[in-house]
Amino acid sequence: MAIERLVEPTMASNNNEEERMEISLRPTNFAEYIGQEHLKNNLRLAIKAVKKRNDGSTLDHILLYGPPGLGKTTMAGVIAHELGASLRVTSGPAIERAGDLASILTNLKDGDVLFIDEIHRLRRAVEEVLYSAMEDYKLDIVIGKGPAARSVRLDLPRFTVIGATTRTGSLAGPLRDRFGIIHRLEYYKESEIEQIINRTAGILKTKIRPEATTLLAARSRLTPRIANRLFKRVRDFADVNGDGIIDQEIATRSLEMMEIDYLGLDPADRNMLKLMYENYGDRPVGLTTIAALTGDEATTIEDFYEPYLLQLGLIARTPKGRIVTEKGRQHLQNPKKKV
Ligand SMILES: Nc1ncnc2c1ncn2[C@@H]1O[C@H](COP(=O)(O)OP(=O)(O)O)[C@@H](O)[C@H]1O
Ligand SMILES: [Mg+2]
Repeated sequence: MAIERLVEPTMASNNNEEERMEISLRPTNFAEYIGQEHLKNNLRLAIKAVKKRNDGSTLDHILLYGPPGLGKTTMAGVIAHELGASLRVTSGPAIERAGDLASILTNLKDGDVLFIDEIHRLRRAVEEVLYSAMEDYKLDIVIGKGPAARSVRLDLPRFTVIGATTRTGSLAGPLRDRFGIIHRLEYYKESEIEQIINRTAGILKTKIRPEATTLLAARSRLTPRIANRLFKRVRDFADVNGDGIIDQEIATRSLEMMEIDYLGLDPADRNMLKLMYENYGDRPVGLTTIAALTGDEATTIEDFYEPYLLQLGLIARTPKGRIVTEKGRQHLQNPKKKV
């Protein structure tokens, strides 16, 4: 059984409070959406071009990929808003049959944006219907069964698909090819995370001192979702143990209580590093072996925990598996010291 981790970048599906908070904090336009400048510039241009043409053409289909919590869902909303289009939200696993997709597609209007989260988890049969819909705005459906079955072709409105995925590798080639814009969301700079924390503090009407913002930003795994989550925990701590103002001391004490170190690693991260190092030293170890050591699913490690450790350079990927780097080893020996 997996324990719920504070630094887990996905949103707990049973956590309504977190979901409500996310909705209230979600930027709605380019100006509020902090960072990802490269992506924003590309999109601004593409959206301007569509608006200028004004000939009924629509924005290219867009694929956003990257680790969870970096703002893919948020960006889909921003794009729709900037286009002045309505947004329809669904996800790969939610579309069970081709018929479900057909009904979503036939209910769209010209210019609508269809956001498909976790698009790599679409079922094969559904995916195939999506190809032709994205390609030429046609829907091929089979009516009836057996010898009486016949296929009909329906015209669809001109819509834009925005797909989001944590893993492009597992997206079928033909589906990938249907996207005119494919963009990877990057981890944020610490200074951008600071801006996000200050924005959140403003919306939640909480005072936070600059030193505390810096401290929190450094431990947020360069991920907005985690920054907001830590902020909320620290705010609770400040309300209970102080006067509600988040200063350096409050931030330090609450982070210590959460056992999050200065790199943003939690006990489970450090445990994984430790197990890798104790059992394999500086030799490579395969993903399934790591999963067996920690008791996690291999995909959980690959999608959620490993990207940040790789980004920090605490572990490295080699053809023969993952290795703990010198920097990783130093962090294990001295989790409080800057490496
Ligand atoms: N660029 C950003 N600026 C400000 N807040 C952001 C930004 N990106 C994400 N967030 C915050 O982080 C939360 C998680 O983002 P989300 O779009 O759900 O990530 P993803 O879909 O990639 O998992 C959002 O609710 C939002 O409050
Ligand atoms: Mg999302």
